Amino acid sequence: MPFRPRYTGLINKYRDRLPIHDDTRLISLGEGNTPLIRLSNIPRELGKDVDIYVKYEGLNPTGSFKDRGMTMAVTKAVEAGSKAVICASTGNTSASAAAYAARAGITAFVLIPEGKIALGKLAQAMIHGAVVLQIRGNFDEGMQLVKEVGENTPVTIVNSINPFRLQGQKTAAFEIVEELERAPDFHCLPVGNAGNITAHWMGYSEYFEHGIVNSRPKMLGYQAAGSAPFMRGAMVDNPDTVATAIRIGHPQSWDKAWKVNKESQGWFDECTDEEILAAQKLLTEKEGVFCEPASATSLAGAMRDIRSGKIPEGSTIVCTLTGHGLKDPDTAISQCTEGVITVDAKLGPVREAIVSNLS
Ligand code: F0G
Repeated sequence: MPFRPRYTGLINKYRDRLPIHDDTRLISLGEGNTPLIRLSNIPRELGKDVDIYVKYEGLNPTGSFKDRGMTMAVTKAVEAGSKAVICASTGNTSASAAAYAARAGITAFVLIPEGKIALGKLAQAMIHGAVVLQIRGNFDEGMQLVKEVGENTPVTIVNSINPFRLQGQKTAAFEIVEELERAPDFHCLPVGNAGNITAHWMGYSEYFEHGIVNSRPKMLGYQAAGSAPFMRGAMVDNPDTVATAIRIGHPQSWDKAWKVNKESQGWFDECTDEEILAAQKLLTEKEGVFCEPASATSLAGAMRDIRSGKIPEGSTIVCTLTGHGLKDPDTAISQCTEGVITVDAKLGPVREAIVSNLS
């Protein structure tokens, strides 16, 4: 019987393309290798001849794309002898840092904005044993503090300003190219700090420069309307959105993302909270894929641009779904107007409820 080699994470798979030594101790949880799911019902509903794929990054070990960068950042921190990592986070980075630090046997310090991170993410940081500092302020203020603390404290910053993070995250583009056997025409991402859009472009460009593909996608970055510095052309001081993961007004990769935008001839746009939540719900109801609100921003933007023809028919489009829907159960439940049906534990009422709901 033919056995395939066990998948052991993205560093092992792409070690030739990553700054890693043969004897480096890898801190891995088997991240990467996430499904690229071809949508069937949504394109039909749009009435357009387009191929839409979603890259379901919510299926990484801690439920978000952050694990791709974190395996690299924590591996390199440990290699350099670091005993602690630190990050500011809207939730997912802190969950990932906490898990990989636990795996490595080092300490994670995480700064999160009080009251503005989704429940699942908070649970993750806490259960993995991170030192959780809840700040009376937003992500941008937390990020500034982390940079200042990092200057004279023996802790390694594992936000995406750590270059190893982007190295790990670029592997998502490799996986997409390998599955499609080409680069997509458009790649849509939700944008917060803009590290991920930068990392994807690095990955596509690397494969392009090495002749593995003969084109690169236009990179489309979608922001939440209340947190859209790339649309305003300036930093936003009081960002707000239901998509708490991308509630960021001072993106750390500002210059890099503008460069991506220019080089790829892509664009930025913004989606309202209503559009974001509608896209999240559509994806769950029509395709069976559950992502968190921020992640649905990529699909919300793509659908709008497909409808308007800005993304032309005949295109192959990839939308990154950055985080799992289970991260934010509160927002999911608050969207479900039908609620649940409570009945006595008796055959009669149960059957009646079923029969009256059969379509
Ligand atoms: N989607 C999700 C689910 C995120 O958690 C983030 C960022 C983004 C998109 C945006 O990615 O910053 O590379 O443009 N979350 C960070 C965090 C800020 O702390 O978890 P980006």
